[in-house]
Amino acid sequence: MKSLPAGYRAIVFGATGAIGGAFAHALRQSPGCATVIGLGRGSEPPFDLEHEASIADCARDLAPRGPFDLIIDATGALAIDGVGPEKRLRDLDPARLARAFAVNAIGPALLLKHFVPLLPAKSRCIFATLSARVGSIADNRKGGWYGYRASKAARNMLLRTAAIEACRQRPDAVFAALQPGTVRSRLSAPFVAGTEAMEPDVAATRLLAALDALPSSGEAVFIDTRGLPIDW
Ligand SMILES: NC(=O)c1ccc[n+]([C@@H]2O[C@H](COP(=O)([O-])OP(=O)(O)OC[C@H]3O[C@@H](n4cnc5c(N)ncnc54)[C@H](OP(=O)(O)O)[C@@H]3O)[C@@H](O)[C@H]2O)c1
Repeated sequence: MKSLPAGYRAIVFGATGAIGGAFAHALRQSPGCATVIGLGRGSEPPFDLEHEASIADCARDLAPRGPFDLIIDATGALAIDGVGPEKRLRDLDPARLARAFAVNAIGPALLLKHFVPLLPAKSRCIFATLSARVGSIADNRKGGWYGYRASKAARNMLLRTAAIEACRQRPDAVFAALQPGTVRSRLSAPFVAGTEAMEPDVAATRLLAALDALPSSGEAVFIDTRGLPIDW
């Protein structure tokens, strides 16, 4: 990441996942990166998106090792409680919809709440969250996947709103929602043949390059692996 100060420090949430693990690995190989902290439900410190106290404790534990120049939230879920995405209205289940929002939108918003304060105030820094193209309201022409789509759209809106607030005090901060493409992972395995999916390390490398090239603009962006904007 040439755009970040030498010796930059990074956190990856969801480092146990395919894309999060690939981000952590790529950053550990990156000569300019001094620290990479990969976090998950079993890490030290641990965090769980559905328990705010665990996120607050995690931020408090890590604050002395900050500030952090790069924070990537690579968490997310497509199947909820073992049930795949809803194809029709009649598949909607209120408890599963609520959990989709808890994991894909509310938890990520709580990561913003507790970790934006750990970004540096006076230098370039990046907070990126893994979204999905299906979270684009403008791009929704196929329908289906109600809970995943809606919770990703909510994640995008929460990021956009947080970016406006955070950039008032951190004008050099970049906030980005990322569409990784179709990537081989636990999440995508039931829905895509392995041969049609990108390797996680390819997606992570491309997304890091796209993030590196983003200017700070005072508002969040929604981009794909080529750095091209996606309509919100
Ligand atoms: N793969 C694709 O084709 C694709 C396409 C578009 C967007 N995305 C997005 O990319 C992101 C990463 O997906 P992936 O493909 O790498 O999936 P993955 O391998 O299943 O990774 C998901 C990650 O989210 C974490 N997570 C889930 N629920 C959590 C919770 N309650 N608390 C803390 N962590 C939790 C998982 O932790 P555990 O290991 O503890 O379960 C894991 O680290 C997701 O936001 C996904 O929606 C993926």
